[in-house]
This record gives sequence, structure tokens and C-alpha cells, in this order.
Amino acid sequence: MSNIVYIATSLDGYIADRNGKLDWLKIVPNPEGSDFGFADFMNKIDALVMGRNTFETVCRFGGDWPYNKPVFVLSTTLKSIPDGFVDKVEIISGSLQTVLTTLHERGFYNLYIDGGKTVQSFLAEDLIDELIITRLPILLGGGTPLFGNLSDHLEFEHLNTEIFNKMLVQDHYKRKF
Ligand SMILES: NC(=O)c1ccc[n+]([C@@H]2O[C@H](COP(=O)([O-])OP(=O)(O)OC[C@H]3O[C@@H](n4cnc5c(N)ncnc54)[C@H](OP(=O)(O)O)[C@@H]3O)[C@@H](O)[C@H]2O)c1
Repeated sequence: MSNIVYIATSLDGYIADRNGKLDWLKIVPNPEGSDFGFADFMNKIDALVMGRNTFETVCRFGGDWPYNKPVFVLSTTLKSIPDGFVDKVEIISGSLQTVLTTLHERGFYNLYIDGGKTVQSFLAEDLIDELIITRLPILLGGGTPLFGNLSDHLEFEHLNTEIFNKMLVQDHYKRKF
């Protein structure tokens, strides 16, 4: 049973730029169309839990739906799922402990946690077991931060680092208790 973050950040720790854009993710030349480990990661999880802002970004992507596992959108304001996504996501709310209990009861144990505020709310309750962070060599100078304040230190053990295309540094950490 694990809650895992798999996310790309700038060198200065942002997951979207000041305009909420992700274009900077494309600075990495990728002639062979590598997914940088994404499909392998998706095979290990049972479902995704993403924040409403991330869901709204994914809705704007167009093209094929990028996920092959159930997606739960955390939101207290979304009253209905936009047209075209009804069979793809479910809205979920409540305390994180309640959300997790509900998902575990439904057989979803290994969860991909996505979105800045969402990751921060899980970390604030020490509910993240693994962090897989892919850093791009760019300073955005502002934007949506991955991390926020915490009331206490959270220590992680380094498991692995992979470098893709001599540009992307993917670090894998596990919570150390
Ligand atoms: N670089 C990457 O790999 C990457 C990955 C993911 C996202 N992003 C980018 O990051 C941005 C989104 O991140 P974000 O920090 O703005 O927000 P987010 O975490 O995606 O969404 C925040 C929203 O999720 C809901 N939420 C979060 N925690 C909740 C909780 N415990 N209970 C109920 N609802 C909860 C709330 O929605 P309500 O206001 O509706 O209650 C909250 O406003 C987007 O620009 C996206 O493109 C980048």
C-alpha cells in the first residue's frame, strides 16, 4: 500500500510556470519518443488521485486520454464532470484519511498522487511513501511549487537515480521512518 508522487519539476522546484503552462517540459529533445519510465510506473499503480487544477490541465491537453488506470479528482468545488470525461474520472472529497480508506476498500492500494497542492496536502499529513521526481535543467523563476511548508522534517531514503537524454535527472526516494 503506497502513495507515490511521480512528477517533473524545474531546477527551482516548480511544476508549472507563472502562467500555469507546461511548455518548458518540451525543452528535452526526445527523438526516440521515450516516455522516461512513465508506462512502467503506471503499471505499478492501481489508481490516480489528482487535484482539480491538474485535472483541468489534463482536460485541456486534447488527444488521447493519458491514463489507463482509474482517476479520482480531489475537489470540493467541482459539481459535475465536464462533457467528454464522465467515464474517465470520479470526483472525490473529504479528509485524506477518509479518501484513502474509501479507495482501499474499493481495491486501489497503490496510488499515484498528482498536483502541487494535492502533494503538499498529503505531505502535510505524512501520507507520501515514495517520491519520483524528474528534474529538468531550467529555472522558471516562479510558478506552481511542488513543495510547501511542513510542520516537521520528513526524511527520505534515496533508492535510485536515472539520467535520461543527458538532461533529465530522475530521483526515486522512499520515506524513511
Ligand atoms: N510538472 C508536472 O509533472 C505536473 C504534474 C501535475 C500537475 N502539474 C501542474 O500543476 C498545476 C496544478 O497544481 P496545483 O498546485 O495548482 O493544484 P492541484 O493539486 O492540481 O489542485 C488543487 C485543487 O485540488 C483540490 N484539492 C487538493 N487537495 C484536496 C483535498 N485534500 N481535499 C479536497 N480537494 C483537494 C482543490 O480543489 P477545489 O478548489 O475544487 O476544492 C484544490 O484547489 C497545473 O498547472 C498542472 O499543469 C504539473
